[in-house]
Amino acid sequence: MLDIKIAPSILASDFAKLGEEVRAIDKAGADYIHIDVMDGHFVPNLSFGTVVMKSLRSHTDKLFDVHLMIDPAQPYLEEYAVAGADIITVHVEADKHLSRSLQVIRNLGKKAGVSLNPSTPENTIEYVLDNVDLILVMSVNPGFGGQKFIKNTFAKISELKKLIELKKSSAIIEIDGGVTDQNAKELIKAGADVLVAGSFIFKSISPLDTISNLKSITN
Ligand code: DX5
Ligand code: ZN
Repeated sequence: MLDIKIAPSILASDFAKLGEEVRAIDKAGADYIHIDVMDGHFVPNLSFGTVVMKSLRSHTDKLFDVHLMIDPAQPYLEEYAVAGADIITVHVEADKHLSRSLQVIRNLGKKAGVSLNPSTPENTIEYVLDNVDLILVMSVNPGFGGQKFIKNTFAKISELKKLIELKKSSAIIEIDGGVTDQNAKELIKAGADVLVAGSFIFKSISPLDTISNLKSITN
């Protein structure tokens, strides 16, 4: 049996009842809670930061998968670790010293993630792979939920798989943006280990059924 993980993105949830939403996806079998942090500078949108994260920490024991769409990220890494992050992901395009940021995350005792925008080639992470636990492949341009999945993501996953093998890395691959039951199977086939889904889960009639449906498709 594959061990594919589902990470609902709370960006698509109802912010007026965030605690309740997080408890519901926890109960529905979410593996990670995907937390999208946006600064209105690296991406053209603002979301939330450590204050909100901290208050959510007591609502679930699931891993906090924190996707930092902020530039720079490095000065804030410790703050996110203290606020309860388990995985901290920074963008290749944001931090000037990516290698150092990844080392800082691991030194804080957290899993280090690196994210690639759709236009960023996979070889940009070749020389940092030994400091990476998770590669987050953006399958939409970051900044908003509910966008259309970019198809050449499949090819990028395959190339990343080759790179991971070549470098004997243990990094896992997470896909973020436009994930639905229509592309989940093919994403797994291409080599995805974690699927992030925002709108598909939270805008569905029953987020609970949608999560278990996604889990049954992928495992
Ligand atoms: C986009 C975020 C995604 C987003 C996914 O910048 O990183 O995590 O919330 O949302 P959907 O699944 O609606 O594309
Ligand atoms: Zn995200």
